[in-house]
Amino acid sequence: MLNQIKNQYAITIAGGGSTFTPGICLLLLEHLDRFPISKIIFYDNNAARQETIAKACEIYLKENAPQIEFGYTTNPETAFTGIDFVMCHIRVGLYAMREKDEKIPLKYGVVGQETCGPGGIAYGMRSIGGVLEILDYMEKYSPDAWMLNYSNPAAIVAEATRRLRPDSKILNICDMPIDLEEKMAHMVGLKSRKEMSVGYYGLNHFGWWHKIEDKDGNDLMPQIKAKMKVNGFADAISGNQHVEQSWIDTFAKVKDVYAIDPDTIPNTYLKYYLFPDYVVEHSNPEYTRANEVMNHREKNIFSLCQSIIDKNTSVGSGFEPDAHAEYIVDLACAIAKNTKEKMLLIVPNEGAIENFDRTAMVEIPCIVGKNGYERIVQGAIPQFQKGLMEQQVSVEKLTVEAWIEGSYQKLWQAITLSKTVPSARIAKLILDDLIEANKDFWPELK
Ligand code: NAD
Ligand code: G6P
Ligand code: MN
Repeated sequence: MLNQIKNQYAITIAGGGSTFTPGICLLLLEHLDRFPISKIIFYDNNAARQETIAKACEIYLKENAPQIEFGYTTNPETAFTGIDFVMCHIRVGLYAMREKDEKIPLKYGVVGQETCGPGGIAYGMRSIGGVLEILDYMEKYSPDAWMLNYSNPAAIVAEATRRLRPDSKILNICDMPIDLEEKMAHMVGLKSRKEMSVGYYGLNHFGWWHKIEDKDGNDLMPQIKAKMKVNGFADAISGNQHVEQSWIDTFAKVKDVYAIDPDTIPNTYLKYYLFPDYVVEHSNPEYTRANEVMNHREKNIFSLCQSIIDKNTSVGSGFEPDAHAEYIVDLACAIAKNTKEKMLLIVPNEGAIENFDRTAMVEIPCIVGKNGYERIVQGAIPQFQKGLMEQQVSVEKLTVEAWIEGSYQKLWQAITLSKTVPSARIAKLILDDLIEANKDFWPELK
């Protein structure tokens, strides 16, 4: 029972074969003093992919935390029985399908991106079923457990769970605002984002900061804006995530996104909606981010794991915790220990953004404790953001309705409505290609 504070927690990592699993697993070990763990189980539906990651983690755990029970499985009952948290990061269709999500729209001169535009819609149509299946396993075998979901596209997954599993204990979260807050903290000379208090509103990968203060209530926005105006977030790049040239370009482009509304500070992802022509001009339709990730992160992680397995030791392997993923421990801790930490979550609006759809899944600061979250009201938002968000939330809702009803018409409407798409004709061409590419994953559309 998670209603009481326990001494130790049992965790399932769903998507055990993810490139992020080793980093998160090691990170959990770094935080055992505040979040003690009795058991870690990996679950995946791809036994071979998971095995490489899991065997390497098993060796690492034996060498560094032998007291923790460890296992990996493709059997849902084994994976989800007797657990307190599911940390869920699955990618239905793997990078091979991400590559198609990115390349099909680009064929028609439209943004090709993992979570934005037609690519994000296609990915959403694959993810909904996968995440719901895992949520159902969790509720069947461990009804008191919480799912912390960061499987993408988080906006569409969150809307699907709001519609189809409204009472489930699932919290959807994204690391982009966390990374950007860390950058802003460094821009003003603070050590950590935790020394700031923020106001933020939006949808996932579609939001704005409207307030950033230090602990004494001093306004930090002017200092941050002065830097933003010159080089976006590009002067604050550090750590080992989001460091490749394509990400550096994205951080720099925020300068232009910022110029459209200098009252707020934008999330990086808005560039895909506000500068789609620029994005397409700077994309290579033969080599997209999926290719970059397959050739770098995926290859590196799998060869590192294989070498740990071959040597039967992780000593000197360079296996590293993903410091970036600390927010996942913070979130688990907030629930387990009732810390009441303030975190950005993707939750039903219910009036937190006063002049916006109450049923929309919005990204806003919340206070997190053992009973879940409480929203922090963000007030009314300006017309510019409201207009953009109304369009985008309709894309997300129509996608979920298309999945539920198996409706071709609604998915065509969703793609047509995306700000990245120039016309209903182009939307239909893209949709027909996506249907063909996704026939093993999407419900049949009529
Ligand atoms: P990956 O392809 O390396 O790993 C995903 C794993 O999920 C694979 O091993 C795959 O076999 C497994 N999987 C797919 N469908 C499944 C199902 N139905 N049941 C069980 N397992 C299944 O992907 P990755 O790049 O490591 O990313 C993992 C996920 O995390 C993606 O959804 C990615 O978009 C997301 N992510 C989100 C954030 C965020 O801000 N919310 C940040 C980083 C990554
Ligand atoms: C950010 C976003 C994630 C997204 C990731 C893509 O962290 O918040 O939602 O999945 O970037 O990174 P990648 O390295 O896979 O392109
Ligand atoms: Mn994200």
